[in-house]
Amino acid sequence: MFATKDISKSFGKLTALSNVSFEVEEGEIFGIAGPNGAGKSTLFNVITGVYAPTSGKIFFRGKDITNFKPDQICHLGIARTFQIPTAFHTLTVYDNLRVGAIFGAKRPESADEVLELLGLQEVRHRPARNLDLYTTKLVMLGAALATDCKLLMLDEPMAGLSMVEINNFLEIVRHINQEKGITIIIIEHLLDILISLTKRMLILSDGQVLYLGDSAGVAEDRRVVEVYLGGKGGVGHARH
Ligand SMILES: Nc1ncnc2c1ncn2[C@@H]1O[C@H](COP(=O)(O)OP(=O)(O)O)[C@@H](O)[C@H]1O
Ligand SMILES: [Mg+2]
Repeated sequence: MFATKDISKSFGKLTALSNVSFEVEEGEIFGIAGPNGAGKSTLFNVITGVYAPTSGKIFFRGKDITNFKPDQICHLGIARTFQIPTAFHTLTVYDNLRVGAIFGAKRPESADEVLELLGLQEVRHRPARNLDLYTTKLVMLGAALATDCKLLMLDEPMAGLSMVEINNFLEIVRHINQEKGITIIIIEHLLDILISLTKRMLILSDGQVLYLGDSAGVAEDRRVVEVYLGGKGGVGHARH
């Protein structure tokens, strides 16, 4: 359903991504992990047209979408959330969802469906600036969902949440995947969460593919253990 082929991205002299290739199947929850600065968010930014890749290609449902603009990508059915929670602060919760529904889906009723799906009815008239972190994240997720996306990309959605909130969020992610049939790519720093949520994952380190394959095998992978669990070299010193 989705694939990148040899994606590289440089910022001046810094190579943030180097020949990153992976494929995601329809209906899958696919994980992306890696230490801070590995290039995870940059990969999302390149996929969603925030940055053009320096080289490489991106495919969605058989179509080459490399260098498409963010609004075109949204209208094709790819939506994302941001690592730093963002919402239109002066708009109400409901109007934030309506932005996604009207701009993305061209279907206003999509906002009402998402309001119910995420249990946001009680806060629907609250301005987004007055929300706690968890609710802000739900609103950001809701605005993405309201676009009627087929592929949803989540950038560290669980960072900063309590254990209870993380478990609630995981339940929502599974529900969106299973009941709505939405394919999901999720960036998550904590490997154990990602192993329990996904069948396959990609691990980046210094912009390179460190691991691509079954999530079940990740804890036994020597290179992952070295980079991730601070074995020889430790996190941030992955080059030997
Ligand atoms: N717009 C940018 N300009 C310059 N450097 C950037 C930019 N965005 C990201 N980087 C750099 O690219 C590298 C990867 O960053 P990022 O993708 O945010 O990593 P991650 O999300 O895995 O923590 C970092 O060294 C970061 O400083
Ligand atoms: Mg990031």
